Amino acid sequence: MNRSRFKDDIVYQIYPRSFQDSNGDGIGDLKGIISRLPYLEKLGVTALWLSPCFKSPMEDMGYDIADYYSIDPVFGTNEDMDELIKKAKKHGLRIILDMVLNHTSKEHEWFKSARSSKESPYREFYIWSETPNDIQSTFGGSAWEWNEQTKDYYFHLYAPGQPDLNWESRKMRNALYDACNYWLEKGVYGFRLDVIENIGKEVENHILQNGPHLHERLHELNQKTFGRKESITIGECWCADNNTRMLYTDPKREELSMVFLFNDWGAFHDPYYGKWKCRPFEPKIYRDIIYARQFTDKEKSWDTLFWNNHDIPRALNRYTDLAYRKQAAKMLFASTMFLRGTPFIYQGDEIGMVNGHFQSINDYQDIEAINHYQILQEKGMSEEEAKEALEKTARDNARIPMRWTARKGYGFTKGKPWLDVGKDEKGYCVSEEEKDPSSVLSFYRKAIKIWKNKAYRKIIRDGDFQPDYLEKEEWIAYTRMYKEKRLRVIANFSAHTYPLPEIPGKILLHNYDDQTNELRPYEVFVFFVE
Ligand code: NOJ
Repeated sequence: MNRSRFKDDIVYQIYPRSFQDSNGDGIGDLKGIISRLPYLEKLGVTALWLSPCFKSPMEDMGYDIADYYSIDPVFGTNEDMDELIKKAKKHGLRIILDMVLNHTSKEHEWFKSARSSKESPYREFYIWSETPNDIQSTFGGSAWEWNEQTKDYYFHLYAPGQPDLNWESRKMRNALYDACNYWLEKGVYGFRLDVIENIGKEVENHILQNGPHLHERLHELNQKTFGRKESITIGECWCADNNTRMLYTDPKREELSMVFLFNDWGAFHDPYYGKWKCRPFEPKIYRDIIYARQFTDKEKSWDTLFWNNHDIPRALNRYTDLAYRKQAAKMLFASTMFLRGTPFIYQGDEIGMVNGHFQSINDYQDIEAINHYQILQEKGMSEEEAKEALEKTARDNARIPMRWTARKGYGFTKGKPWLDVGKDEKGYCVSEEEKDPSSVLSFYRKAIKIWKNKAYRKIIRDGDFQPDYLEKEEWIAYTRMYKEKRLRVIANFSAHTYPLPEIPGKILLHNYDDQTNELRPYEVFVFFVE
């Protein structure tokens, strides 16, 4: 069994609701994903991470699971999932499911039984109190919800419809392991584990992340489920740092393959309003954080290289000047994909998709955005400021439908899309990008080919890392080295122009159509030096 096989994967995240609709109901589905497998194969990715598509009342768009064993009818059937797993394999793609093990939906049978009586066998699956403390839910308001039938409160770190599971209960843990094994036996490659740092929580002590039993539980999860096979696992960790990350990823500890960290984004958050009011981006601050990750113990850590996902507004909007959208989209990918770690592409990155264009507060669908419109005003923002905060930060920005064709609705659906499709009807889309050798899509395909090429594989996977041109505060520039071979990246993370240093070597990747002696706005070069 090759336990580090995942190090050769490039993962593509699909947000199933917004990827491809096959039946005209305006919501993406599994059959839609199946129809796009040739596209994904051609892109060159090797694994697909699907945001949750289990049965759910969708209070938090599927991150509230009502049945771990069934696909929600809006996405299709269990047979569709079987077909997807099988057909994806034929296209060289393996499926990663998003497992939400910190909480269920309040519509889950376990919770329905647990809330009906203190005598329920599922009572111990959840967290209860007659004297709730002051912990606040991430989506706003108290994290405790009154349950009339049993005259006490249940704990929910997220929406009231997402009661937290009690990981102290062995019975509950075994029930979750059974669910994971059910999907592993069906042939899925692994899991993205939602807010996994929360599972060791001790609410009575106000400990929500990194609880005392967290790693013991993760080791048990590993041993009882995916640890027995060749797999990939990615934990979502908002609070881990470079040191605590190694507790998850040190192969000797047998927990997870890798974790997502978010301190590169958090570095720009406002001390009072958090992510809802970010201060201006500074490439140097960002760069210092991602470089530091490259220097953590190679034996014990493995990075995740991503710019976007379904929870954060598009990096193109956050960090770049959209006047240079096309160059910047290419630069973002090329500047980080050659670092040590697994590159993740979020659907639409490969065509340079940008944020949605929500005209009115009623256009948002996400519970977090809807709640925060009020919360931000209560915290002191004017109505206008709160609206602007949502326009920049709401998660719906990243969830708008994929742009496949230039037709109205972008070929995502024949019906009415569940979420606004964004601005610029005649803009970029897959079918146009396909025809253009200098498109963002063509660049992504080329970059992935280079990443997978055997000639560079060892440098990219195992090579040492050395930052270059540190005095240039708007650059991301570094060298990866393996024996005598070197790969050098020079990226201008700004709309300014600099003189281009001379680098001996072959240009592998470049995002402008011509070459000058300058490093132009968002220009990036990748060189190979032997
Ligand atoms: C993280 C998920 O990515 C997010 O979409 C969700 O709202 C929370 N976890 C709660 O499950």
